[in-house]
Amino acid sequence: MKAVVTAGPTLEPLDPIRFVSNRSSGKQGYAIAEALRDQGFDVTLISGPVTLDDPAGLHTVRIETAQQMLAAVNAALPADVFVSVAAVADWRPAETADRKLKLDKSAMTALPLTETPDILKTISHYTADQRPALVVGFAAETHDVATHARAKRLRKGCDWIVANDVSGDVMGGSENAALLITGTGDEAFARTTKPELAARLAHRIRAALEQNQSDVRLRAP
Ligand code: C5P
Repeated sequence: MKAVVTAGPTLEPLDPIRFVSNRSSGKQGYAIAEALRDQGFDVTLISGPVTLDDPAGLHTVRIETAQQMLAAVNAALPADVFVSVAAVADWRPAETADRKLKLDKSAMTALPLTETPDILKTISHYTADQRPALVVGFAAETHDVATHARAKRLRKGCDWIVANDVSGDVMGGSENAALLITGTGDEAFARTTKPELAARLAHRIRAALEQNQSDVRLRAP
């Protein structure tokens, strides 16, 4: 079975020197890619700029921008499962200059931005053979985690959402706790290391796909 995983931040350039990005470390996404590999999946990991090494035994594709990430995901499909762990920048500078911008400090009070493609939503809405049987999104929330994550699952059109409470030290830290929202019920993953949480999720993904292959519906409304 084949898996595509996105991880890390995206980096959206303003010019060759400056960019818009975020603090995602890539740790949870890399751990999920490795855990799926350990479950026997053929894994393509599409990663934004992080300081982690390419994991052994899977195919890592390095990109910078959200647009490049979407193109790399499309190139890696078809797959049985898509796991969208990346902290994709929601906005990018509306224009990218080829040369370092000379900024007039008194005039520069606003940075024009435009939306990046929503990769998870795009892949979730593919039809038939193009759409992975299972599409899993992540939701980083600081409050009302389950409520927001349930709404996000419907908004994005994905099958499952893994919801994190990031109000503490999760971003960049080595531990995580999550709520898996499947549409047929919620499952809590207690706080543990990111690799252990990844192993549990990968096991759950393989079981769902195997059940799906024996003709049980994976998607719930
Ligand atoms: O809307 P929000 O950024 O909170 O959604 C988080 C989920 O959507 C994550 O799974 C993330 O990888 C995905 N996402 C995406 N493309 C975007 C924004 C978010 O794939 N432009």
